[in-house]
Amino acid sequence: MIIANVVNCLFPFFPRMCLYLVLSVFLSITQAVDRSNFKTCDQSAFCSRQRALKPGQSSYRALLETLELSDSHLTVQLLNNNNKVLLLLELYRLQGNMTRVKINELKPIKPRYEVPDVLITDPPTELMSVVAQDEHRVVLSLGGEDWRLILSAQPFRLDIMEGPQVLLSLNSRGLLAFEQLRIRKDTISHKISSTVGSMWDKIKSVFSSKSQTDTEEAGEKEDTEKHDKEKVSEGEEEEAEEEVDQPGMWEETFKTHTDTKPNGPSSISLDFSLPGVEHVYGIPEHADGLRLKNTDGGDPYRLYNLDVFQYELFNPMALYGAVPVLLSHNTHRTMGLFWLNAAETWVDVSSGQGSSEVPQTDVRWISESGIIDVFIMLGPRPNDVFTQYASLTGTQAFPPLSSLAYHQCRWNYNDQEDVSAVDQGFDEHDIPYDFIWLDIEHTDGKRYFTWDNNKFPQPKDMLQGLLDKRRKMVTIVDPHIKVDSSYKIHTEIRSRGYYIKNKDGGDYEGWCWPGNAGYPDFTNPEMRKWWASMFAYDQYEGSMGNLYTWNDMNEPSVFNGPEVTMHKDALHGPWEHRDIHNLYGFYVQMATAEGQIQRSGGLERPFVLTRAFFAGSQRYGAVWTGDNAAEWGHLKMSIPMCLSLGLVGISFCGADVGGFFKTPSAELLVRWYQAGAYQPFFRAHAHLDTPRREPWLFGPDNTALIREAVRQRYTLLPYWYLQFYHSQRTGQPVMRPLWVEYPEDIATFSIDDEFLIGRDLLVHPVTDEGSSGVTAYLPGNGEVWYDVHTFQRHDGAQNLSIPVTMSSIPVFQRGGSIICRKNRVRRSSSCMENDPYTLYVALDSQGNAEGELYIDDGHTFKHETDKQFIHRRLSFTGNSLSSSDLSPDSQFPTASWVEQVNILGAQKPDAVTLTTTDGGESSVGFEFDPDTAVLTLRKPGVNAGVNWTLHLR
Ligand code: NOJ
Repeated sequence: MIIANVVNCLFPFFPRMCLYLVLSVFLSITQAVDRSNFKTCDQSAFCSRQRALKPGQSSYRALLETLELSDSHLTVQLLNNNNKVLLLLELYRLQGNMTRVKINELKPIKPRYEVPDVLITDPPTELMSVVAQDEHRVVLSLGGEDWRLILSAQPFRLDIMEGPQVLLSLNSRGLLAFEQLRIRKDTISHKISSTVGSMWDKIKSVFSSKSQTDTEEAGEKEDTEKHDKEKVSEGEEEEAEEEVDQPGMWEETFKTHTDTKPNGPSSISLDFSLPGVEHVYGIPEHADGLRLKNTDGGDPYRLYNLDVFQYELFNPMALYGAVPVLLSHNTHRTMGLFWLNAAETWVDVSSGQGSSEVPQTDVRWISESGIIDVFIMLGPRPNDVFTQYASLTGTQAFPPLSSLAYHQCRWNYNDQEDVSAVDQGFDEHDIPYDFIWLDIEHTDGKRYFTWDNNKFPQPKDMLQGLLDKRRKMVTIVDPHIKVDSSYKIHTEIRSRGYYIKNKDGGDYEGWCWPGNAGYPDFTNPEMRKWWASMFAYDQYEGSMGNLYTWNDMNEPSVFNGPEVTMHKDALHGPWEHRDIHNLYGFYVQMATAEGQIQRSGGLERPFVLTRAFFAGSQRYGAVWTGDNAAEWGHLKMSIPMCLSLGLVGISFCGADVGGFFKTPSAELLVRWYQAGAYQPFFRAHAHLDTPRREPWLFGPDNTALIREAVRQRYTLLPYWYLQFYHSQRTGQPVMRPLWVEYPEDIATFSIDDEFLIGRDLLVHPVTDEGSSGVTAYLPGNGEVWYDVHTFQRHDGAQNLSIPVTMSSIPVFQRGGSIICRKNRVRRSSSCMENDPYTLYVALDSQGNAEGELYIDDGHTFKHETDKQFIHRRLSFTGNSLSSSDLSPDSQFPTASWVEQVNILGAQKPDAVTLTTTDGGESSVGFEFDPDTAVLTLRKPGVNAGVNWTLHLR
């Protein structure tokens, strides 16, 4: 590969590619992100313009005489006292304790982008009534006795109140700023703008799509005649201040790239103040701690999907994905802010003292274009915020069970023989795995949907070989398409006009793995439909039902583009790339997941991994944290990075086990397997230039340690599957910060090295080199926790020192819970389908416990379409353990049975009997270990899908 790259480098037509590769090699030696490739706020014209505006009195005034109240919403005009431009504020009270605030220009000279396809529905509204009004303010009822929204006119601000308490204020620091679309003053540019304006009209008429419908309707309203900025409403006499163009408004150069801005400045900004709040979270993706830091004096957190080579830890630089959702939390309340904008966005966070010595956090959002469309989720508990957010953007797709098992990846498995040897290796070393992955080298010259004929001459044989072992494969399908007239995918996209266009109207081209590449316009629903059809078995030659997909480089990555991504003035139909940038990866994964569903006639659940994402991406599959490094710091960082994603809906998250760049020591690799085994997406991956690192290459002791970690994952698959089932139904994160379950315990608010899976498993992986012990915080006054390995019982609300050896993975089960495991680990999860369950009943201090069991076929939608599933409640109370049906109208035949029950924190009974609903009664053998207080019931033998009770007498 390296030789091939060098040859490429010498080839005169590929100078930029060559530069990239040389740089890659250089940087992989120096091992640090090249910060100069990426903008700071100061280097971004709109960010620095906006940040130059300091808190103070807002220049906006609400014109209360324009207020209109309908059943569903309120509108009022906002006047900018300086430039006399009018904005339209829309306020909605949404079902489920949410408020939506939209601000747009009253009459923009052309439509501004409003993000389509992310909300799963037009959010249902609730009646909003005026409870008081005078010339200074309007008070609206938000329901209940004392929920109020106060709209103050001069200066304009909004306050959301509960009784006398302000929960949240908007524009209280006067940072609402809305750059109106305008015509450039000098004549030459004026001509350009008019040309672009009329081009927009033409494009708009040919680019018809469902997702554009709303905007087009908005476009109908546009007043194209009116090319002067919109002035104040009748009766306003003051003169508008002359606005002076500032540098970077109409053109901006970064390094060698010039961003032409035919629409001129269009950025927006708004501030939010959260009195009583010291802790805020979310707005992934950043390689930073869970709790967001103050950005005073530094750069804001940046949300701009970027392919950042060798990213640095603990900084607010943008990474591959962006979810503009921020959560605030204190002991009384959790709230959320969802800033629905897909353009480049910066978020300033400042926590400190508000008025009257109350702590306060101020947050300020700045986006380059689009409109202000913000959802305020009022909680009050963490799970309410998750439900509220899920009602807007949907929940985590319920993945095939096997995708929760272990994935073996590297860049690259070289050929069919290599795949088969690795597959064999797992069997020989008795390590289970479900998926083996093929990176870009498996293709014919980086032409996705193809195979390198020399290395993979018989892909179906290879897939069949895996299928015979009930294993699966993933191939990479990136969204950059090699410009090559003999490549069907390219010629089809070109002839159908599906490529993104450059500013001059030609197909946009950039450099990526294949050399010169086009980028399909995934914002176009017709394009997505076509892309999806390419996954049909007769289109994607060599594919089979056990082949799934990995979407990489979908920020999109453009090696020779500004900041390694697409030029902002590229065009998606009528819209600039600037407007949609953070949505591109979302659409790529959407279309790919749809393709997988369609190829199976709508029967099978898809599995698609994406690197770039946006709000709502949870509906389409899994994400990973990109190109991390084999360093202890990166292992630690995988925890807050995945926790942050879980908080904003994306539960199916993982980091490359072992680290992508560099070579892990055996100790780091083992520790990473141990941590990864307890994170949602569990995949080992490594860079092309790293030595091989299959689990058996580090000596028998390390192989045994890795085997044990992977086996622990497999035993817990029923629990993982249940958590994903819940996540899909409720939007609750699978991997959770402790404060989500213990919202009043301040000690949990800043924990970065420990997490919960669901409610019942607490994990504190060892992430330090040479560690001889960790200190785990066990939460919950009055709660008890059981070490899952020793069954030792510990009280909650304490810092527990745990000595560790290389085999330790500190994991605790919450007293009061019942967890089902499958302890007969086989070579893949599918092979364990009919295996029996062992129940771990961890008694709380009252001697009770509860849990659930969910079973279905593990891969189809029949649980949804035909109610083919089992969902049972397991309950231990009054010395009886029983299993009852939580969904009596669903059915699923299972061969699985209850093999063993371990009751932790138990007392020794005299006898144990089993009763079933058919009246059967039998005695059950048991053992009691007085040292550990574990009662083991052997072979109850009852089917996992029926009602039964075990009585301890
Ligand atoms: C970048 C991805 O992040 C990495 O995981 C992958 O191996 C390479 N692209 C090559 O496809």
